[in-house]
Amino acid sequence: MFPTFTRSGLAIAFIGLTSANNVQGFNHPISNDIECAADSYVSFIHNSYTYNAPLHKFTDIAGSFFNVSWYGGTAVTSTTGTDNVPGATRSGPFVGTIFNETLTAFEKGSDVLLFSYHGKGFTFIPEPTYPALRWDGYSETLRFQSICSGKATHIDLITYTCSDNQPLTYTVWSTAHTSSFDGLAQTLGATILAGDCLCA
Ligand SMILES: *[C@@H]1O[C@H](CO)[C@@H](O)[C@H](O)[C@H]1NC(C)=O
Ligand SMILES: *[C@@H]1O[C@H](CO)[C@@H](O)[C@H](O)[C@H]1NC(C)=O
Repeated sequence: MFPTFTRSGLAIAFIGLTSANNVQGFNHPISNDIECAADSYVSFIHNSYTYNAPLHKFTDIAGSFFNVSWYGGTAVTSTTGTDNVPGATRSGPFVGTIFNETLTAFEKGSDVLLFSYHGKGFTFIPEPTYPALRWDGYSETLRFQSICSGKATHIDLITYTCSDNQPLTYTVWSTAHTSSFDGLAQTLGATILAGDCLCA
């Protein structure tokens, strides 16, 4: 089913699922469950990144639900509700359609920033070389965590999507995540933290 997953990749992904559920139990005023229709299949994507720059450098740019100028090559063009308060919505242009996302959880502390949101489904063509892809809805949890005594930042994402093509859904999200976070780090002059905190 997931040909690109190694055994350890799966183990990491399941740990991720458990912690997402814990977060959901305590902090989600709105359920983050994804239920797929009969002809639609749930896939989850777990990506993580670690960079050599303090948390606040990332959250200065990525700390607002209403501003995605750094993410996915798009922009927010309309909002409802209050920024960073669950129930708020954001919309904008995305690959020939309009994305509509609702914030389901927000957590901010001195060493962590977390967003969870639901997105409505749409059909799109990810790239000229790919077939049309139908997403029937998705939810994503994005967490920025301060590490190495504040010198570095660990970012992880868990994205659940109902779609008609699991492998392509995996590729599209992973590519969007990696280009967005590497791009954000590059803007900050941060490098990938390859080893342990001694390198930070
Ligand atoms: C969104 O964030 C970017 C980066 O911090 C900033 O330059 C831009 O002005 C912000 N846009 C809005 C509409 O606040
Ligand atoms: C998002 O909302 C806009 C405005 O209501 C609508 O035109 C668009 O089709 C919606 N997109 C999705 C994916 O539901």
